[in-house]
Amino acid sequence: MPKKIILDVDPGVDDALAIILALFHPEMEVVAITSVGGNVPPTIASRNVSGLLGFLDPDRWPRVGVANLPDDGLPVEGRYGPSVDYLEAACLRVAGLRSPHPAEKVICEEVRAAPGQVTIVALGPLTNISRAFHRDPELPSLVGQLLISGGTVTVGGNITPAAEFNVFCDPKAARHIFRSPANKFLVPLDVTNKAVLTFDLFHELPSDSSKVGWILRAILPPAFLTYHQRFGLEAIHVHDSVTLMAALIPEAFEFKELAGDVEVAGELCCGATVFDRRRVPAWTPNIHVARRMRTRKVIEELIAGLKLAAQRAGLMELP
Ligand code: RIB
Ligand code: CA
Repeated sequence: MPKKIILDVDPGVDDALAIILALFHPEMEVVAITSVGGNVPPTIASRNVSGLLGFLDPDRWPRVGVANLPDDGLPVEGRYGPSVDYLEAACLRVAGLRSPHPAEKVICEEVRAAPGQVTIVALGPLTNISRAFHRDPELPSLVGQLLISGGTVTVGGNITPAAEFNVFCDPKAARHIFRSPANKFLVPLDVTNKAVLTFDLFHELPSDSSKVGWILRAILPPAFLTYHQRFGLEAIHVHDSVTLMAALIPEAFEFKELAGDVEVAGELCCGATVFDRRRVPAWTPNIHVARRMRTRKVIEELIAGLKLAAQRAGLMELP
């Protein structure tokens, strides 16, 4: 039976890839997609989710939950800006939702509808998940699995020297989640940094006669350009699709239960994830953390998943 999935996303190219993969994968049933501010402000994140869904038009539409914070309601100063909306390049048409439901409400309802069976895949800041857990304090014990893209164990951050982007954006929410009793799995930068989509692999993607090929060719080149200009790389990171793969092919990942928490203050280390890795830890293990991954297998599955999605989503309509 396909896994019931809630995708919580801040699209973002990386998140968009994960949405495409999950929507058309036969082993996943995406029951909801909820948006959160992160890579882009909340309203843009919600707009991008609607635009992607409208364009891809999957056989089974998930419920949609919208980011429920004003664009200027930043949990951390500077959180949303300056941000680049790579999905803008696709000029997706967006139909307004008739009665938009807040993300945290949708999360609570979908988990309650299938207790113990839903995997939440959190690919952005943990704002919505934290709000859902506040709204329904029993929820953590009803979630089957909470898979989180974010944090670091031994490597440096990617938004500050110490912090990973998603955790940095809303460290209080991340701390709340780390300290919650949910069945949590973290896929940190230590692992996701290792899987990149190279320019060579870009040429293996489905052709632009398919909807999926078309949109990938619209949104990926600006991201490749940024990586080239900023980091001198001919490749882009795909942290969120890698995290999704941990739900699809868990056998390709090695998890270890660690004792972790999040720094919520501090001039230099706000948003850093801290793990008790002393010889004799004093903290109690509370989160499963991916320590190793079969990188080649993960990238192969990712490309195969996008090809499958291209077949299932169908062809671009001629004007
Ligand atoms: O640090 C990785 C995260 O930040 C991903 O979720 C990606 O979308 C990025 O902006
Ligand atoms: Ca993301």
